[in-house]
Amino acid sequence: MIHNSNSFNNDWHPNIWPPFTQIQTNKAQIEVSHGKDASLFTVNPEKELIDGISSWWVTLHGHSNEFIANAISNQAKTLEQVIFADFLHPQAKKLAERLSKLTKLERLFFSDNGSTAVEVALKIAYQWWQNNGERRNQIIAFDGAYHGDTFGAMALGERNIFNESFEKLMFPVKRVPWPSTWIGDEDVERKEEASIQKLCELLKHPTVAVIAEPILQGAGGMNMVRPKFIKKVSELVSNHNSLLIADEVMTGFGRTGSLFAYQQANIQPDLIAISKGLTSGFLPMGITLSKEKIFKSFVSDSPEKTFWHGHSFTANPLGCAAANASLDLLENEPNKYLKFEEKHLFLIKKLNHLPFVKKVRICGTIVAFDLEIGTNSGYLNTIGKKIKSIAIEKGLFIRPLGNVIYLLPPLCITDNQLELCYEIINDILLTL
Ligand SMILES: Cc1ncc(COP(=O)(O)O)c(C=O)c1O
Repeated sequence: MIHNSNSFNNDWHPNIWPPFTQIQTNKAQIEVSHGKDASLFTVNPEKELIDGISSWWVTLHGHSNEFIANAISNQAKTLEQVIFADFLHPQAKKLAERLSKLTKLERLFFSDNGSTAVEVALKIAYQWWQNNGERRNQIIAFDGAYHGDTFGAMALGERNIFNESFEKLMFPVKRVPWPSTWIGDEDVERKEEASIQKLCELLKHPTVAVIAEPILQGAGGMNMVRPKFIKKVSELVSNHNSLLIADEVMTGFGRTGSLFAYQQANIQPDLIAISKGLTSGFLPMGITLSKEKIFKSFVSDSPEKTFWHGHSFTANPLGCAAANASLDLLENEPNKYLKFEEKHLFLIKKLNHLPFVKKVRICGTIVAFDLEIGTNSGYLNTIGKKIKSIAIEKGLFIRPLGNVIYLLPPLCITDNQLELCYEIINDILLTL
């Protein structure tokens, strides 16, 4: 270890700058020796933790899944990386054909993570209008959205404390309210109507694209909408001759109870961004899927119509091998995600009688609720940090979004482990 004189007198490693974290006010990272299925194993103290949020929503089939590990290992001995502008390889071909068939979007553009998958979708949409001889600038997104942390993706997301330092560098985006709903919500029709009205108004102006996290906004607070709302959004976008970008970075691969969340609304987006569960969390990879009609406008003798975008690790063979193996598992055992919702619906009964548990919502593998404790709602409510810390002591890793408590476990979590997650949360809530 290189000596670092800039010591803050805390337990954080002196050479590491952690993501999304203020080391002044947070406990140091916990060292993990290994992971297996739905569990992480820590070093000091030696302890097993159930990974209740799939390590930031990426671990789909569980940690160190052997089938995927073997696929990566075999691929590593065959071809580990190749420049994708000039060379094709069998894993990319296979993955492109499979995902194209599953989404009915013909073209795949590979990148490295969720933010770049969104960034690419936005750039494709923006240039598409120019390639068709029209300049459009208006972009529409939803209140509460989160699409990533690169500049374009960040600009699409809600403006808040996390990005206010960069306000002047971000392009303008028009916003539509997100009509979040929950079990027993009696106001949902009115909220949806208000959103639709706002969207209609905005779409009167020529629009590059509307971007949405179908069915479920993740980082914004696990806020769910009804599929019929997404259907209406899609109809309006298409009636106003704009493009719909579905950000399925978090919702893709069974998380919401269907392979992709948009499928519940029975719609066909023009562009889809995927990442996270794509490789089952084994390797960083993002993909932007596009309609053939969009791709066609980039095919020309004029160089300016080219999509001048790429990343060194585009379609990395190891990532593609992991994604193909992960898809094999999903296709072989669809019940793993199809049957999840029933379990949550049963287990949430343990908690939802507590007076401060509000807005219970369940969608596929995900359960969330708000805690009406403390004055702030959202990230700045410190109750989540307190609950996280006690949960870790009790053997569960969760990372509440302020006062929003949620579970988003790997598909391989056992019934006993899932029950234990609820028991631990219940025990903590009873002491509040
Ligand atoms: C809906 C959505 N889009 C984009 C991103 C950004 O993905 P990444 O963190 O891989 O850049 C996230 C990350 O949480 C997300 O939830």
